[in-house]
Amino acid sequence: MTNKSWLARLLSLMGPSDATNEKAASSEASRQLLASLLNMAWFVEARDPYTGGHLWRVSRYSRMVAEQAGLGSKAAASIGLGGFLHDLGKIAVPDSILRKAGKLTDEEYDVIKTHPSVGSRMLAGHPLGHMVEDAVLLHHERPDGLGYPFGRSADLPNMALVVGVCDAFDAMTSHRPYRAGMPIEKAIAIIQGEAGKQFDPRFCSSLSALAKDGALVHVAGHSDVGIPLQSCPNCGPTLALTRNSQAGKLIYCRNCTGQFKLASDSGGKLFAEPTGEMGKPNDLMPELDHDLIKHTIREAVDELPSLLELEEQ
Ligand SMILES: [Fe+2]
Repeated sequence: MTNKSWLARLLSLMGPSDATNEKAASSEASRQLLASLLNMAWFVEARDPYTGGHLWRVSRYSRMVAEQAGLGSKAAASIGLGGFLHDLGKIAVPDSILRKAGKLTDEEYDVIKTHPSVGSRMLAGHPLGHMVEDAVLLHHERPDGLGYPFGRSADLPNMALVVGVCDAFDAMTSHRPYRAGMPIEKAIAIIQGEAGKQFDPRFCSSLSALAKDGALVHVAGHSDVGIPLQSCPNCGPTLALTRNSQAGKLIYCRNCTGQFKLASDSGGKLFAEPTGEMGKPNDLMPELDHDLIKHTIREAVDELPSLLELEEQ
């Protein structure tokens, strides 16, 4: 089905017929379609207990880097969405590989390397898939041609290059079961050393400039604006709070299943106190942060042309 035919059908189901209503309906349709993609990505991420907030951070870094590099606000908005959705294809990577603490074997790494293509197949049936296809399929390609799935070095799209460097930066600065996250400055030095090899030099410089300005500290180690990750004493910073979190709420470490109660300090800042209990399956179900997804979409859609405009291009 072409974009035109699905949209025409969707709009007719929604009822409006004049141009103003049609534009509003189109904008609402794009929000809902984006929400379907972001919800999917959220649940894929939730399978790895150590990645709390990864999609939000990569999305945020990607948009900041694109803006810093002068790509313009519209391109930056779609690149930010690409950052949120880049790892959709990890749905096909078994837990035994995705959550493995030690080094992967060559065979296991071959399985990991399928995730960009799987993500691309998932997007193929989605009306907005084309918007983020470059991020999903090409975020592990490298300017030196040593990336995957194609080993392509020429004409890599900005979206893939920006998300690639931001994904790596977040991986380096985040805690993993076998190592603590490294300081921002150290990760930036490593990334600069890979300029022109693993990463695009232009976007390495943009990320580095943002780090120098202190713009990354508000994102690193956070799961939303102004919300730092909380630490489980056994597992490290694995506890992702939401904007709606309040004192008294019970939360759980997705890795060790430990239960925590949120309390607030004298300044009103929330912190997680272990209760000594463990979560049951009902407690440990992934919680979708609808608010975060809504504001991620709102910030993007405000900058993006409506679906109707896209059809006319
Ligand atoms: Fe990936």
